[in-house]
Amino acid sequence: MSDSGKRHRAVELEDIGTNSSDNQTFDSVVRAHLSRRALIKRALGVTASALLGSPFIGCGTAGSATEPGVKPEEPKELKLNFSAVPKSLTDTLIVPDGYTASLLFCLGDPMAVSVPAYRNDGSDSAASFTQRAGDHHDGMSFFGMGPSSAHDPQASARGLLVMNHEGSTTAYLHPSGPTVEKNVRLVEQEVIKELNVYGVSVIEVIRQGSQLSYKTDSPFNRRITTYTDMTISGPAAQTAYMVTAYSPDGTRTRGTLSNCANGHTPWGTYLTCEENWAGYFRRVTTVDNPNRTAKELASFARYGVSGNGRELWATAVATAPDDTSFARWNAMKTGITANGSDDFRNVANTYGWVVEIDPFVPTSTPKKRTALGRFAHEGAWLGPVVPGKPLVWYMGDDTRGDYIYKYVSTASWDPADANGGLAAGDKYLDHGKLYVAKFHADGTGTWLELRLGANGINAQNPAYAFADQADVLIQARLAADAAGATKMDRPEWGAVHPHNGEVYLSLTNNNSTVRTLDSTDAANPRFYNHPKEGTGTAQRGNPNGHIIRWAETNADPAATGFRWDIFLFGARSSADAVNENLSGLTDNNDFSSPDGLWFGRNGVLWIQTDDNAYANVTNSMLLATIPGRVGDGGKKAIANSDGMKTKMVETYAGKAPGETNLRRFLVGPKECEITGLAETPDGKTLFVNIQHPGEDTPPNLLDPASFGSHWPDGGSARPRSATIVITKNDGGTVGGSLL
Ligand code: FEO
Ligand code: CA
Ligand code: CA
Repeated sequence: MSDSGKRHRAVELEDIGTNSSDNQTFDSVVRAHLSRRALIKRALGVTASALLGSPFIGCGTAGSATEPGVKPEEPKELKLNFSAVPKSLTDTLIVPDGYTASLLFCLGDPMAVSVPAYRNDGSDSAASFTQRAGDHHDGMSFFGMGPSSAHDPQASARGLLVMNHEGSTTAYLHPSGPTVEKNVRLVEQEVIKELNVYGVSVIEVIRQGSQLSYKTDSPFNRRITTYTDMTISGPAAQTAYMVTAYSPDGTRTRGTLSNCANGHTPWGTYLTCEENWAGYFRRVTTVDNPNRTAKELASFARYGVSGNGRELWATAVATAPDDTSFARWNAMKTGITANGSDDFRNVANTYGWVVEIDPFVPTSTPKKRTALGRFAHEGAWLGPVVPGKPLVWYMGDDTRGDYIYKYVSTASWDPADANGGLAAGDKYLDHGKLYVAKFHADGTGTWLELRLGANGINAQNPAYAFADQADVLIQARLAADAAGATKMDRPEWGAVHPHNGEVYLSLTNNNSTVRTLDSTDAANPRFYNHPKEGTGTAQRGNPNGHIIRWAETNADPAATGFRWDIFLFGARSSADAVNENLSGLTDNNDFSSPDGLWFGRNGVLWIQTDDNAYANVTNSMLLATIPGRVGDGGKKAIANSDGMKTKMVETYAGKAPGETNLRRFLVGPKECEITGLAETPDGKTLFVNIQHPGEDTPPNLLDPASFGSHWPDGGSARPRSATIVITKNDGGTVGGSLL
């Protein structure tokens, strides 16, 4: 079948009313159990057993059994429904003609009626941030809500929007920036404010007419912060590795941090993923190293737990003598016990996890799911959901030269668990196998299991003597090293195609320090110089990144083998077409550093960028693409060069999408990252997060002209991260239409 035929077929399967909430994905079909009665009513003619029995049936049409004598409708094809926007360096947000973007939820916005409007001058109180929007909005999910306030995966008019707050631009958070003297934080309330600004927000959103807003008075509104009590769950819970003064039995920890991308479950809970947590802990190596074991030192080195802590939180002094709010950021051995129950020497082991949150139960305690391994988690993306088959999540470890992982549940999916809450999480997320990816040069790949006794993971391993499975999961990076995983060009977001289950994953970039010309390989195949526009500064390695994709063997998400190719190469449109701009990007779709990836239900793949290499040419952006299939391109040989020598590398490149199937949809304001995406199930509302506008320029707060951005409020305002809502002016689906 031709490439266009493949795309055509996928769309046809989907043609159950993409513009309506009946449009199904693997996931939503199974979740139909939740709102079964409503679905049966809407889907007329499609039996409940058919809806629940096959992951594909929802993509067929209720009326596809053609009546005798009735001419079948022409199959429709998914097409991008907008004209590309140009690159931009202005401090504005640009969307295509025919579209409208509006602000929904900005840093500091009140989440309760008792909370005053945000002043945005640094004077808003530390405590108020337990009921205000946090900073640095990132990954997010929309959970539709039915009239009884229960989860309804088909509901678009009302829902819970759950989002991460990955970090903070603290220069704008306090009256005069953080108060620091000789690397010590002096003002307790400033540190408390920062500790409250991280974490997760849950807000209830409602659509009235064409307007969508969030409810400040919703009982579902919730902030989860670095103070929120969390249960440690799964194989590493209640082990000696997790003992802290906060939880001497290793069952709990406090807070979540660096919540980057996200994921969701088939039972309507949210997964928030802890990414750059390691840098927040204080561990002065000259003092602490002599007190630690060889294994502890190997772990600290592999995860990067050393230094003063990037925000110096451990240096603040609490007013109350027994308050460990700040001391818990000190990962040094300061106590006298043998097990660490009198200090926080083990606290770093309690971070770096996928954390499950039930947004429908505001009093629920989040759970850190240790079976999914500990690393710099970008996100956790659910694979195809099939009754009677295991559930699968794909994950990236966002560090240059780190790995791609997959978790496969022991339990097989039972649609009766579709409203099971955190108890369903205990069933599917606490017992399973963790794998890491190895990409072979012949276009195939292998999932290597991270299990004690398998793949060189044992007590005899020279780099790290693994003691038990909890040790393997806590030290997942070291286990993956032992197994021989493939080092990748910084794994960021993944996305699973809703119609064929193929998995896409951004490899945002790499540099010549971490990946030399000699270590270029088939899955990370380019090494070139992109001189920075304007300055000419050399940027060698793979500064623009690429998007890899794979198809599991026999389309079985639990398979241990796959076929891969590279869907798209980031590049300047002006770059050499043979060795650098391999996807033939043009002025209307060129980009650098792909980061956020997300599939709409209709099959449009959204690509968000967090660019540095191309930042002198354009602000970060959002593109929309209609991808083909793994293997739709062919083998390519790339001549790489570091300026002194060359190295030929053969890879597998996907078919170039061209402007027909890849266009720039949005460009953000200055110094922002575009990250986080969600849509209402009817595809008519897209939520996008604009993270840290103005982050790069240190401001003189007395001179607003010095600010790197004033978005979104304009004038002399301090910049704010924000969630925006995008709709099509004619009320159609956002990004792509069936034409
Ligand atoms: Fe938080 Fe990998 O970006
Ligand atoms: Ca990211
Ligand atoms: Ca990023």
